[in-house]
Amino acid sequence: MESFRWIVLSYFIGAIPSGYIIGKVFYHVDLKKTGSGNIGATNAYRELGVVAGFSVFICDFLKGFIAVHLGMPDPLIVLACAIAAIVGNDWSIFLHFKSGKGVACGVGAFAYISAPAVLCAFAVWLLVFKAKHIVSLSSIIAAPVVALVLLIEGASAEYVIFAALAAVIVIGKHKDNIKRLLKGEEKPIIREKR
Ligand code: G3P
Repeated sequence: MESFRWIVLSYFIGAIPSGYIIGKVFYHVDLKKTGSGNIGATNAYRELGVVAGFSVFICDFLKGFIAVHLGMPDPLIVLACAIAAIVGNDWSIFLHFKSGKGVACGVGAFAYISAPAVLCAFAVWLLVFKAKHIVSLSSIIAAPVVALVLLIEGASAEYVIFAALAAVIVIGKHKDNIKRLLKGEEKPIIREKR
């Protein structure tokens, strides 16, 4: 029962809409109404600048990291907290269940669980980004790498399954980006205004 409490708390931690708050409080901009309409670090960078983008990334990362810490030491609860935080980030109760895409929050959660797997995913992210300069494409391709590395490492099944589930959630939340990518309409990252 106590574990259930940590999972619910992880959802609420994930649901804190960092990007929306930072945009509104420090820039008087509603990220939901500008750029891609996403409240994540990419849109914050695109619309508000590098400081905003970095701040949103760090806050979202920490949400995942802290949520997972709550689940310690039981591996299954740790994994459930990771998914709960990503679900909270992506379907925030504070924003009518329309919020982020779970990349930075997922990175924070899985960095706690397996730093090497996240570093490999980041290396893939960087390679794709260097080639195409499209954040969504990089995130979509890098997301399954965590599960893949865990599988190759011989991690137990629950780690691989939960990491794959996180990747499915993250990729699913990029469905509009995927549509734009398929039409050749997804723009490379170029910050339009400060
Ligand atoms: O982290 C989200 C990123 O992959 C895409 O963001 O704003 O381009 O939809 P955005």
